[in-house]
Amino acid sequence: MSNSKAETVAQCVSRVSEQLEAADLFYGHGTDNPWDEAVYLVFTVLGIPFDAEQAQMSQALSTAQSATLDALLSRRIEQRVPVAYLVQEAWFAGLPFKVDERVLIPRSPLAELIAQRFETLLPAVPQRILDLCTGSGCIGIATALAFEQARVDLADISSHALSLARDNIVRHGVEARVRAIESDLFAGLEGPYSLILCNPPYVSQSEIDDLPPEYAHEPVLGLYSDEEGLAIPLQILRQAADYLSEDGVLIMEVGYSHEALSARLPAMPFLWLGFDNGGEGIFVLTAQQLRDAEAMLAL
Ligand SMILES: C[S@@+](CC[C@H](N)C(=O)[O-])C[C@H]1O[C@@H](n2cnc3c(N)ncnc32)[C@H](O)[C@@H]1O
Repeated sequence: MSNSKAETVAQCVSRVSEQLEAADLFYGHGTDNPWDEAVYLVFTVLGIPFDAEQAQMSQALSTAQSATLDALLSRRIEQRVPVAYLVQEAWFAGLPFKVDERVLIPRSPLAELIAQRFETLLPAVPQRILDLCTGSGCIGIATALAFEQARVDLADISSHALSLARDNIVRHGVEARVRAIESDLFAGLEGPYSLILCNPPYVSQSEIDDLPPEYAHEPVLGLYSDEEGLAIPLQILRQAADYLSEDGVLIMEVGYSHEALSARLPAMPFLWLGFDNGGEGIFVLTAQQLRDAEAMLAL
C-alpha cells in the first residue's frame, strides 16, 4: 500500500546516506562510501535494479517498506552489521550471490581477473578449476560462468559455507559443471587442476583484534591463520604443485600479508598483480615454479 506522505525512493536514499555518514561506520564489505551503501540497502530491499529509471526514483515507499528499511538501518548503525548480511546478497564480478554469516562477504580483487578471463596469465583455456577456500562459492561460480566448458570444484572446510555455496550453484544454474566438496585444504580433493584459485584465511590474531566491528560478524574461520597469517597460505604453497597439471597455474590472494610472505620466501618468483579497481596481494605461480621451489617451501 502506498503512503501519500511517505518519502520517495530518491529521498529515502539521501536520508539513509546522511544517517550512515553521521554514524562513523567502516566501509569495505562491498562499498566504500555512505551513498553507495545507501543505494545498495534501499534498492535491494525495494527490489529495484541498480540501473533504475527516473520514474522508479520518484515512487513513494509504503509504510511497510519504510519500517523494514528503518529496522535494517538501525542494525547497520547500532550493531555494525554489514549491508550484505542485512540484505543477504552480495555482488561479485557483476553477479549476485546469496550470503549470510556462514561465509565471508565476497570482495576479492580476483573478480577483476575473472572479468578479463585471466587475460595473459593462463597457457590455455582451463578445463578443470579448483576454487579452494570457496566460502560462498563466488570465485569458482563466476569463473565457471566465464569458462563455459570448464568443470569447477568448490572446496571448503566448513560444511555451513558449502551449504550456502550449493545454493549459489543452483542460483546460477551451473549444477552440471560445479560441485561443492568438504575438504581441509587439499585433503579431500583429486587433481590435476589446470587452474587453482584461492582466497584463503590470511589474517593474524593481532590484526583480527584491531579490525573494525563490522568484521566481527564474519566467520573467524574465514579470516584467521596462524604464524602471523602465513600458516594456511604456506601450506597451500607446499601442496599445490601435487594438484596442478603439468602447465597448471595457482592464483592466490594473501592481501596485506604479501609483504610478510615475500619476506618469508625472498627467492620465490611471485608474480604480484596490479588492479584497476583497487586491491593488492594476489600472486601467480606456475606448477613448474612451485615444483622448483619444493626445497625452499619445505623449510
Ligand atoms: C577468506 S574466506 C574466502 C571465501 C571466498 N573464497 C571469498 O573470496 O569470498 C576463506 C574461506 O576458507 C575456508 N577455510 C578455512 N580454513 C580452511 C581449510 N583448512 N581448508 C579449506 N577451507 C578452509 C573458510 O571456511 C572460508 O570460507
